[in-house]
Amino acid sequence: MEDRIASLQTVAVAAIVAVAARKELDAARVAYLGKSGEITRLSEAMREVAKEDRPRIGKLLNELRQAVNAALEAKEQTLAAAADSAALATLDITLPGTPRETGSIHPLTRLLDQTVRIFRRMGFVLADGPDIETEWHCFDALNTPADHPARNEQDTFYLPDGRLLRTHTSTVQVRTMESQIPPVRIIAPGAAYRRDEVDATHLAQFNQMEGLYVDREVSVADLKGTLEFFFRELFGPETQMRFRPHFFPFTEPSYEIDIRARALGGKWMELAGCGMVDPAVFEQICQKRGDRVYDPDQVTGFAFGFGLDRLAMNLTHISDIRMLVENDLRFLQQFPA
Ligand code: DAH
Repeated sequence: MEDRIASLQTVAVAAIVAVAARKELDAARVAYLGKSGEITRLSEAMREVAKEDRPRIGKLLNELRQAVNAALEAKEQTLAAAADSAALATLDITLPGTPRETGSIHPLTRLLDQTVRIFRRMGFVLADGPDIETEWHCFDALNTPADHPARNEQDTFYLPDGRLLRTHTSTVQVRTMESQIPPVRIIAPGAAYRRDEVDATHLAQFNQMEGLYVDREVSVADLKGTLEFFFRELFGPETQMRFRPHFFPFTEPSYEIDIRARALGGKWMELAGCGMVDPAVFEQICQKRGDRVYDPDQVTGFAFGFGLDRLAMNLTHISDIRMLVENDLRFLQQFPA
């Protein structure tokens, strides 16, 4: 028995070492350790071994099994490593890789992000409202009379149920005051719609940025200071500004802001509308809310609004506003991250 074990160990280990393929290895495992494998049969033969010899023979048998298992395991690893290097041998690592397309931030989004960041530093928070609005939120609450040209069928997209696509983001002023008590200090970026013929300087859907600040004793000086700070942060410290008297139904007094900045090509540009919230607007809000927290004798406020698209156009020196919405890669790739 001892001799059989010793010679099987020599033969088996040598045979496994000589194996060159996966299949042979599996066959060897079955031949030695399988149900009727040689080692299994030897174990069965233990029954015939004299009782006093069993511990010694049993130990030898265990050593045989361990040696065969170790040889199988080692061969398994050698074969796997060989398969790996065979696969790698066909790989040409000098071939160019597949480039990862990295996108970039759209010029409009970049302008929007910068704008939001500057106003946040002054304590403004984001607010929003629906694009589909009631006439009341878009016009009546903003002191815009029934015969105002902005309400014209030719100028505004009306839905069959009488609602409309908001013509400006000033609707968010109304929405905010309906649901929040003063002080409020909000900015509201969003889409606005007008029934304009689309051309190089007009889109029927465009983007605006609205702002509203209501508290006790808010003054024109606050309005000027806030917007001057904002535009100087955005366009640089030498930016010049003009507040030109103007008219908006929802502010009194009202101004248009002209800006001259190198970033905008160095010429005066009419850029934003603003003013002190008209008491008539506060009265509308009070009526709607059914309380007096926006009593125009108690609170004052300023509001402003400007378009983002034309601004982005001037900042990026493009001549056609439609480029901002066409998603043409040749355009977009000119503004790497
Ligand atoms: N809503 C105006 C527009 O679309 C812009 C505007 C002017 C907004 C004056 C304001 C404001 O908040 O005070 O032309």
